[in-house]
Amino acid sequence: MVFPSLFDIQEAADLLTQGRLVAFPTETVYGLGGDAENNQAVAAIYRVKGRPNNHPIIVHVHTTADLNRWAKDIPLAAEQLMEAFWPGPLTLILKRADTLSTEAGAGQSTLGLRSPNHPVAQALLQAFKNGQGGIAAPSANRFGHISPTTAQHVIAEFEQEIQAGELARVLDSGATDVGIESTIVDLSRLDTHGPVLLRPGHISKESLMAVLGVPFHTAQKNDHTTPKASGTLAAHYAPNTPTILVPTKDLDRILAEFNQAKKQIVLLHYHEKNNYPFPHILLPQHATEYAKALYASLRELDALKKEVIVIEAPPSTKEWLAVMDRLKRASYAHTLDMYSEHKK
Ligand code: TXA
Ligand code: MG
Repeated sequence: MVFPSLFDIQEAADLLTQGRLVAFPTETVYGLGGDAENNQAVAAIYRVKGRPNNHPIIVHVHTTADLNRWAKDIPLAAEQLMEAFWPGPLTLILKRADTLSTEAGAGQSTLGLRSPNHPVAQALLQAFKNGQGGIAAPSANRFGHISPTTAQHVIAEFEQEIQAGELARVLDSGATDVGIESTIVDLSRLDTHGPVLLRPGHISKESLMAVLGVPFHTAQKNDHTTPKASGTLAAHYAPNTPTILVPTKDLDRILAEFNQAKKQIVLLHYHEKNNYPFPHILLPQHATEYAKALYASLRELDALKKEVIVIEAPPSTKEWLAVMDRLKRASYAHTLDMYSEHKK
């Protein structure tokens, strides 16, 4: 792994202290970070990302952080999950501490907290306010676009902002390990809702349940009490090229139809087949390995600027839940169009 020097990390921490923005690696995806206690820095994150300001941003903390600075009434369930999975790809939504005036919570009474399992992220958090600060950081991509899994993705995404100094530094630590965003569990409404899975991720519902010993709820679309989570919008994590998700059994037929219509297509598949006459990327058949390569592959296919990205849909088994969640969002608008055209 490429590793920034301690000097680089200290410089980045100093920039954060000055209210500047720094992109940094985590084990999931790269984050666009700012001092969570500096509302101008938080406002700059919203501006640079182009994110609506009612979508809260999660706060990253060091493993030794005093969580009572950030959250109140921390339930036993949170302590159990932190013990089992932190540092790691798990974000907990908790009741926000009363004394905290961070805009990262977007005016909600809750706050998302996560301690990332990445040496550079932890070193940055240690160098920043002696491990007791919080780095507010959404994924370092423009709102709605694909999350970045390398520093090059971040640089490509924010070229202008880097030139203008709005994004002061990008810490490069190579490709991230997990490849998709953290699992998000809402524990802020335990009394009324129990634990709620807001976003599936590498840490599965089953392993969370094994620790908590209680059944889990999945956020419902029409549940108006669900806190806003932009990662839970139907269309999200999307390439610019129209993208459709096709079951394996329909794949040959759909590809043949596109071919007949002379559509310029590219394909993301996971069953091996060598004779495709158009650009294609073969991903691993194992969900964890697939997730790791997914976003870089989608960016690569998107960059070819063809008419359609066709994705072979993986199985609907629990191992693939997090990947399927991202694929459905990446393809949302267009898959619906396509299938309704077919039904006509
Ligand atoms: O893996 C990750 O979680 C990455 C890395 C950088 O840590 N971060 C990330 O942040 O994916 P973002 O902002 O792209 O996605 C976090 C999601 C958003 O959908 C946001 O709306 C939701 O978490 N969220 C944040 N705070 C929340 C809160 N208080 N209540 C409900 N949802 C919240
Ligand atoms: Mg995001």
